[in-house]
Amino acid sequence: MRNQTDSEKGHWQKMVDGGLADFSIPLWRDYCDGLHLRLMHKWLGGRRFEATLKTDLFDEAVGVGLVNWLCSVSTSVEGIDLMPEIAKRAADRNPEIKIRQADVRSLDAYSSPCFDLIVSNSTLDHFEDETNLIGSLNELARVLLPGGLMFVTLDNPQNPIVWIRNRRTSTWPGQSSLVPYFMGRTVPRLELIRMVEDAGLKVEKSTFIMHLPRVLFLHASRLFAAGSPSGKSMRGLMNSFELLNKLPSRSRTGHYSAVLASKPVA
Ligand SMILES: C[S@@+](CC[C@H](N)C(=O)[O-])C[C@H]1O[C@@H](n2cnc3c(N)ncnc32)[C@H](O)[C@@H]1O
Repeated sequence: MRNQTDSEKGHWQKMVDGGLADFSIPLWRDYCDGLHLRLMHKWLGGRRFEATLKTDLFDEAVGVGLVNWLCSVSTSVEGIDLMPEIAKRAADRNPEIKIRQADVRSLDAYSSPCFDLIVSNSTLDHFEDETNLIGSLNELARVLLPGGLMFVTLDNPQNPIVWIRNRRTSTWPGQSSLVPYFMGRTVPRLELIRMVEDAGLKVEKSTFIMHLPRVLFLHASRLFAAGSPSGKSMRGLMNSFELLNKLPSRSRTGHYSAVLASKPVA
């Protein structure tokens, strides 16, 4: 795994060296954050938490991210990222959170369960093989307190665009015009549910999110200021694609699968 981690770090380092400016598209970041926050708000209801772990800090390094909201529902919030530069950038923007450079596949810094909420949005779909996905789900289940909740999203390979994009980026990592970083192994929603259950958790809810044509809207988002009237209309249009989640074709249009799971109290 060491060689694998080194080569993965190489991909992320290229992204960091590029300055991240390409990813800081305010309208797109607002849209992504809003999508995740609405779903978490709906699924977590009014519940409060003592200690939350977020498994990567990319959203907070390039935009507002999710930690502001997480701080409003949790007494403490800790974020990890494989790349120290990403973790530091997120911490500079969010001094209220604790950060740590860590690999989600081996959370040695946490010797026993200590989080009652874990949020992992599209962190576990960047590994070169599936054993790493299973291993990190096991690690997250290990550090989750009994009664705690885990929210996970993964790229949905049942969406044909995701499937094609992942094949391209894994063949030529870092070279794709679709995504300039490495996309790893991912699994369909039902397989994710099975893996989460195999890790000893109970799946409470699952769904698909982000039903718009991603590449088209990601690039179109560059043309609008997030707070302008046209930017707000654009965001309304982007959000309206979530109505597709009501159709039988939702497993083909959703960009991510999302799962909420709880750890049984023994
Ligand atoms: C491209 S981002 C995607 C995640 C982001 N939350 C999103 O939804 O767009 C991937 C982030 O995960 C981090 N990362 C990659 N592998 C990791 C690992 N094994 N452990 C922790 N963070 C990792 C990268 O450094 C990067 O900040």
